Amino acid sequence: MPRLPHAREVTANVLDHVYADADWLDHDAPVAASVRAAALVLESAQYLRTEDRAHGRSVAALLDRLRVPVDDDRSRELGAVLDGLRRHVQELTAQPSWPAPAWDDLPLSAAAQAVPTMLTDTTRRFYKWLGSRLPAGARIAELGSWLGSSTLCLCEGLDERAGDTARVEVYDSFVWAAWMDSFVPVPSGGAWPRPGDVFLDRFHANLQAYGARVTAQRCWIDDGTTPGERPVWRHPEPIDVLVYDMGPDRAVLDVLWEVFEPHFLPGRTVLVFNEYGKVHATSLWEFCDDHGEHLVPEHKPVGTAKAFRYV
Ligand SMILES: C[S@@+](CC[C@H](N)C(=O)[O-])C[C@H]1O[C@@H](n2cnc3c(N)ncnc32)[C@H](O)[C@@H]1O
Repeated sequence: MPRLPHAREVTANVLDHVYADADWLDHDAPVAASVRAAALVLESAQYLRTEDRAHGRSVAALLDRLRVPVDDDRSRELGAVLDGLRRHVQELTAQPSWPAPAWDDLPLSAAAQAVPTMLTDTTRRFYKWLGSRLPAGARIAELGSWLGSSTLCLCEGLDERAGDTARVEVYDSFVWAAWMDSFVPVPSGGAWPRPGDVFLDRFHANLQAYGARVTAQRCWIDDGTTPGERPVWRHPEPIDVLVYDMGPDRAVLDVLWEVFEPHFLPGRTVLVFNEYGKVHATSLWEFCDDHGEHLVPEHKPVGTAKAFRYV
C-alpha cells in the first residue's frame, strides 16, 4: 500500500508549489483559485472567532474578489457556500465593535477543569460569567450539555448571586457517538462508553455538587433525518438564559424556537449559540437572520460562541 503523505508534507508541498510558480500561475486556473479559496476559508474561520472589525473588513474584501471556477455540481455547491460566507462576513463587519471582554480573567475551578469538554477555556469562562450575572430565581435551559462541562461552569457562576434558588434544565440524548471519543483523555484501566451507550450517569456524576439545581431531560430532537421527541420547559418562570450546543441543523433549531420561545422575556432572555462562529454554520446564521427582529447581538467571547438578547 502506498504510504499516505503526512499532512505537514502536503502543506509544505502545496506552499512550495504555489510559491515557486506564483508569478506564472494563471490566477483564475482551478489550482490557484482553489488554493486561494481554501486560504480564505481558514482566514474567515479565524475572523469568525473574534469578529475583529479590521480583520473582517480585509477578509470581506478578499472574499468579494474571489472567483471560484464553476464547472460541475460540486464546485457550484462550494461556490454557493463561499457566497453565503461572504454575505455573513459582510453583515458582521457592519455591526458595532465588541468591547473588551469581562470574563477573560475569571478562574476555572479544579472541578470544572476535571470534566472532559468540547469547549475552549474562554467559552467556559464566559459561561461562568454569564451565570454570575443572574439574579435569585434564575432559570437556565441548556440544549446539548454532553458530559456537563458547560453546565458546571454555568452552575459555578450561579453560585455568586442566584445560588440554590436557580434551576438549570438540561436537554440531551445522552447517547454516546464515536466522534465524542476524541474529546476525552484515553481512560487508564476503565473504558469509555461505546457508540449507542447512554452516558446520563456520567453527566450526573460530574454535576453531583449541583444535584438539587440541575435536572436532565433525555430526549432526541428531530434533526430532519431521525425522528425524535420534543423537549418540554417544565417551569412556570420564564427563561433567563438558553444555551444551545446541538449543532447547526435547522430542524432542531426550529424545534428550539417553537418550544422555548413562548418562555422568553423580551429585554431579559439571553440566547447563546455555541457554534455560531464556525465556517459551516450557514443554517444557524440563516436561523438567526430569520428571527433577526428578536435577536440582538449581545456578547462575543473569542471562539465559536455568540450571545444574543431576545427583544
Ligand atoms: C457539542 S456536544 C455539547 C458539548 C458540551 N456543551 C460541552 O460542554 O462540552 C453536543 C451534545 O448535543 C447532543 N445532541 C446533538 N444533537 C442532538 C439532538 N438532535 N437531540 C438531542 N441531543 C443532541 C449530543 O448528544 C451531545 O451531547
